[in-house]
Amino acid sequence: MTYDDQDYLRRLPHLDRVLIGSAELGLRVRELGNEISRDYRSSLPVLVCILKGAYMFLSDLTRCVAADHEIDFMAVSSYEGGTQSTGVVKIEKDLRTNITDRDVIIVEDIVDSGLTLSHLVELLHTRTPRSIRVCTLLDKAAARQKDVRVDYRGFEIPKEFVVGYGLDYEEKYRNLPFIGVLRP
Ligand code: IMP
Ligand code: MG
Repeated sequence: MTYDDQDYLRRLPHLDRVLIGSAELGLRVRELGNEISRDYRSSLPVLVCILKGAYMFLSDLTRCVAADHEIDFMAVSSYEGGTQSTGVVKIEKDLRTNITDRDVIIVEDIVDSGLTLSHLVELLHTRTPRSIRVCTLLDKAAARQKDVRVDYRGFEIPKEFVVGYGLDYEEKYRNLPFIGVLRP
């Protein structure tokens, strides 16, 4: 844990602990970027950032992908502010890129039940891309209700509600430079 991480922790009474520190995140994101660079040398993939949660991850990841690529954004909602999946997924903002015949990499913050992601993959498949792969920073594999393939995974984490590095609780805590756990 860096000094900054500890400083945040002291100032935020609702935070219980740091699960993944900022230094550890940085190293792992670099590794994921290298993997993607190796796998997509010349096909100009589109990195599709799923808003809002994945904005910080995308921003760091794209700087670690040396291969040429494009980025685009999509927003879906499945959570109505709480900590439980409603199972309802709505497209709030769609892509501007035509992904037909393109290699697509979905960039997600976290895969929990897998409901959001499986819906999204299904939807993007109808646009006949050349390929779709999934890159998620966090994976709560034990919470999975719907099987969905994850191609690039930053960290597998336990079934706890986490915040920070883009992830929120009622729109707060996205700015934290680490992944933390709230007090119960
Ligand atoms: P799923 O449909 O259950 O896989 O949920 C996926 C979405 O729920 C993620 O993209 C997040 O926006 C949100 N989510 C799931 N778990 C957490 C968490 O622990 N903290 C914050 N958001 C979460
Ligand atoms: Mg999300």
